[in-house]
Amino acid sequence: MNEVFSSPIIKARQLTRIYRLGQVEIAAVDHIDLDILPGQMVVLKGNSGSGKSTLLSLLGGLDQPTEGELHVAGRDLRKASPAEITHYRRSSVGIIFQSFNLLPTLTVLENTCLPALLAGKPSPQVKARALDLLDWLKLTARLQHPPSHLSGGEMQRTAIARALINDPAIILADEPTGNLDSRNGEIVMELLWELNNKLGRTVIIATHSTLADRYAGLSLFLKDGVIAEYS
Ligand SMILES: Nc1ncnc2c1ncn2[C@@H]1O[C@H](COP(=O)(O)OP(=O)(O)OP(=O)(O)O)[C@@H](O)[C@H]1O
Ligand SMILES: [Mg+2]
Repeated sequence: MNEVFSSPIIKARQLTRIYRLGQVEIAAVDHIDLDILPGQMVVLKGNSGSGKSTLLSLLGGLDQPTEGELHVAGRDLRKASPAEITHYRRSSVGIIFQSFNLLPTLTVLENTCLPALLAGKPSPQVKARALDLLDWLKLTARLQHPPSHLSGGEMQRTAIARALINDPAIILADEPTGNLDSRNGEIVMELLWELNNKLGRTVIIATHSTLADRYAGLSLFLKDGVIAEYS
């Protein structure tokens, strides 16, 4: 492995996110040091409230650390301007949520294309890529459907297509199988694994489920905002 590929794609030092509620402070992420290499498949475990979603939000540029350093995909997220963070979110990371977060008035195809159109990419090129992704995700028969006409598995596969449309190096998934039955959960986990294994994407999955365990290159167990265990 050469130097470029062996340097971390995610590097956190003393990364901290404190929520303040009146006089009470909660360190949701508490001085975490973490290096993740390009192409790693990471599973985040830990009890409810241990900080998994908060950590993913920081990595995805959806939230700002209270203190510490965070470098992702060659970018210093603590020093980045709001415009740079928006660009980072659109180009470097794809995020998948438990509740899918699809726009209800847009079709499957439109939901998939949206992040690329917002990034200013030409429409014919975006549509061609979306059709390819949706074909891979077995959604070709659902292109013109709104999310309300889809099954949970189809909704999550649409969300995966949307997360991939801008070809991000990093995929962040927060309980991606939480609203799915076990068969669809397995399908989604296999797709994430394929993205990692065949396409070399760095994939980080926060989950209570054991479905991800067999694919994990690295498992991190969070406890009260701290990484209590690596395996
Ligand atoms: N917006 C917020 N304001 C205040 N406290 C918050 C906020 N979001 C999270 N917290 C607190 O931060 C801690 C970590 O929450 P987080 O959502 O990251 O946990 P989690 O590991 O994802 O839990 P779950 O498994 O239930 O999804 C919890 O104590 C939670 O109550
Ligand atoms: Mg969570």
